[in-house]
Amino acid sequence: MDGLEAIETASVDELRSVQLSRLKDTVRHAYDNVAHYKASFDAAGVGPDDITSLDDLSKLPLLTKADLRDNYPFGMFAVPRTDLVRLHASSGTTGKPTVVGYTQNDIDMWAQVMARSIYAAGGRKGDITHVAYGYGLFTGGLGAHYGAERLGCTVVPVSGGQTEKQVTLIADFEPRIILVTPSYCLNLIDEMERQGIDPKATSLEIGIFGAEPWTDGMRAEIEARLGIDAVDIYGLSEVIGPGVSQECIETKDGPTIWEDHFYPEVINPETGELVPDGTEGELVFTSLTKEAMPIIRYRTRDLTTLLPGTARTMRRMAKVTGRSDDMLIIRGVNVFPTQVEAEILKVDGLSPHYVLETSTDGNMASLAVRVEAAEAGTDTTAQVDRLTTHIKENVGVSAAVVIEPPETLPRSQGKAVRVIAKDPS
Ligand code: DLL
Repeated sequence: MDGLEAIETASVDELRSVQLSRLKDTVRHAYDNVAHYKASFDAAGVGPDDITSLDDLSKLPLLTKADLRDNYPFGMFAVPRTDLVRLHASSGTTGKPTVVGYTQNDIDMWAQVMARSIYAAGGRKGDITHVAYGYGLFTGGLGAHYGAERLGCTVVPVSGGQTEKQVTLIADFEPRIILVTPSYCLNLIDEMERQGIDPKATSLEIGIFGAEPWTDGMRAEIEARLGIDAVDIYGLSEVIGPGVSQECIETKDGPTIWEDHFYPEVINPETGELVPDGTEGELVFTSLTKEAMPIIRYRTRDLTTLLPGTARTMRRMAKVTGRSDDMLIIRGVNVFPTQVEAEILKVDGLSPHYVLETSTDGNMASLAVRVEAAEAGTDTTAQVDRLTTHIKENVGVSAAVVIEPPETLPRSQGKAVRVIAKDPS
């Protein structure tokens, strides 16, 4: 692959026509081959013949993670099991994991959208590409890997962990691109400093960061410390893995959704009703080309806004604010970890390593923010005051701010754990 694919700059009409024809095929395929879809469409009184325009999609029922769990492990597949060439699964903190499956054509499509993503991020054929997303049942490592190979990059499949060794490999192999979670990247930057390596002087030029929510403040922090361009990649296993959308390096204005394969809608999470583009709500995806596991109106739980295309014809999504499951309700105020992160990164003298602790006493939920000081042994009274005030004014809650010495909070090895629920003491 070299250069843009024609569809990336096609007219909107052309894109919509490709989407409609693919949508009809997908709905038919799902209805004919997956018992869950047949039952849920029949119950809603709609069928494949009712899809004559893209707007008709909203007549179909929504799909939830619970539906996928109820069909564990192989009940959502639309092809014989023997046609699957790969399975992945999302870890899921409770209960059974969610299983996803791919035909060879699905793997090829995924490699293609990932190659397109790395290209949009500024990657080119021949670039040494350090993949620090975990390899295994998690889709991050293998998804990035196949895409980078498809683009013609030289892939270094490091996976997560072994932080010291990763830094050595970066120093010795001189990659131009790194794919990693933003929180683990901070860990790598700290390790470079520990080893006496100037992070800004490494060969890295581009970081492709995702798998967890991160703010523009975190982008600025990483770009400044590592001397790179940091761009956002989004995806989820149920839809394909990484490469559902990718921020273009020339605009850095939120990920462009590869709409020729993944059709986005945004709904009001409470009512399930569609909201117009430009309004924040829960992102819902319908796959347009998947064979093994067509996904129709899957509720991602991710909160974002659909925005018009800029660098490409396809629409963009705003940076994800958070997952509705991660939303804390502190004395009636909805709080996302990203909102607190944004405030932390505005205060000089604090590091970007933080964790939120919630506790409940009776019916009262309270929030503590633990964040590391940037340097040891400094008086942090002013930082405590500043952060407490910023959180109160901009997030709207009173939080107990605790500033910890450097290197004391747990470090991310992949997706960061931002919230810890404490029992009342
Ligand atoms: O995290 C796939 C991925 C791997 C994406 C590597 C990007 C890079 P899951 O483990 O199924 O898949 O988790 C999906 O992670 O619903 C979001 O809540 C969150 N997420 C993923 N990318 C972003 C992002 C992978 N760029 C869940 N910003 C999604 C915010 C993200 N949240």
